[in-house]
Amino acid sequence: MSELNKIALQIISNGKGILAADESNGTMTKRLEAVNVKSTPENRLSFRETLFSSEGMKDYIGGVILYDETINQTSSSGKSIPDLISSTGVVTGIKVDTGAKDLANSPEEKITEGLDGLRDRLKQYYSLGARFTKWRGVYSISEKYPTKLAISSNAHALARYSALVQESGMVPIVEPEVLMDGNHSANICLNVTSEVIRKCFEELIIHKVDLSGIILKPNMILSGNLSKDKISKEEVSLKTLECLKNSVPKEVPGIAFLSGGQSEVEATENLNLININNNTNFIMTYSYGRALQQSALKVWSKNIKEKEAAQNTFNHRAKMCTLAAQGKWAIELENK
Ligand code: 13P
Repeated sequence: MSELNKIALQIISNGKGILAADESNGTMTKRLEAVNVKSTPENRLSFRETLFSSEGMKDYIGGVILYDETINQTSSSGKSIPDLISSTGVVTGIKVDTGAKDLANSPEEKITEGLDGLRDRLKQYYSLGARFTKWRGVYSISEKYPTKLAISSNAHALARYSALVQESGMVPIVEPEVLMDGNHSANICLNVTSEVIRKCFEELIIHKVDLSGIILKPNMILSGNLSKDKISKEEVSLKTLECLKNSVPKEVPGIAFLSGGQSEVEATENLNLININNNTNFIMTYSYGRALQQSALKVWSKNIKEKEAAQNTFNHRAKMCTLAAQGKWAIELENK
């Protein structure tokens, strides 16, 4: 087993999942202002440290993805944030892309940037304790989009990123996110997501990336948020499995879904059904941002000095997601 494969499995085995706490300062500012908390470096750290020092970390979370600001911060106990995370047995990850920018010649679409100087940044993140990384490509669906240009340029960037990350001894999370915004059907989401993922693997293979040492972070197959044709959760799980079975090479150890704007319970229930119906050899778990943090953030914002209530809320959410990653979740458990 390669070292990278071992790290990937350590992060996602036994129902463990990933806490995506890698919101950029811009996104985190929106999240904090929505609950009437001022977005300062201290407050951003205070919320994140509340989660990282909760009991649920060691039982349910295998990896945490940080943003550049956080990986360089020091916790209130004087430990660095990566040390605080590894003291709970969790692997530290870091977002290394520098964001999605307008794509030249198709400016309504996005290309994710961050390759320039990446090799040196990776060395630095490794020395700070990071052992895995994230890069997110983003695609929207409409009659015209995504174009072949967006699909191939983002796949190329994801492959160049992954090769550099593995060279530096870390596991790349490959995240091609097909957004749920729009009125498209679930079948269109299925077709687009399959094409996007296939293209990513085509490029990863050209770039000689070790597929046993990556984690794929895709969207689930959902109808657009404005579509009138909603499908059942059972259908979401079956279409998601169909997509991944037909587009992901079998060497890949695991898949960790993003929540993408689903509610906390919806993201949990869909993951649970995916695991109940899982007819693949892939581990299927979560790498949620909003669907792990939303309720905890609301509770925390009521009194940011009082950590326990927010930690209890986070522990519950992480437990529910971990049960779902084993196909053992049930709605009744939500109120216990
Ligand atoms: P959400 O689960 O909120 O979609 O965030 C996951 C993520 O990391 C997006 O890049």
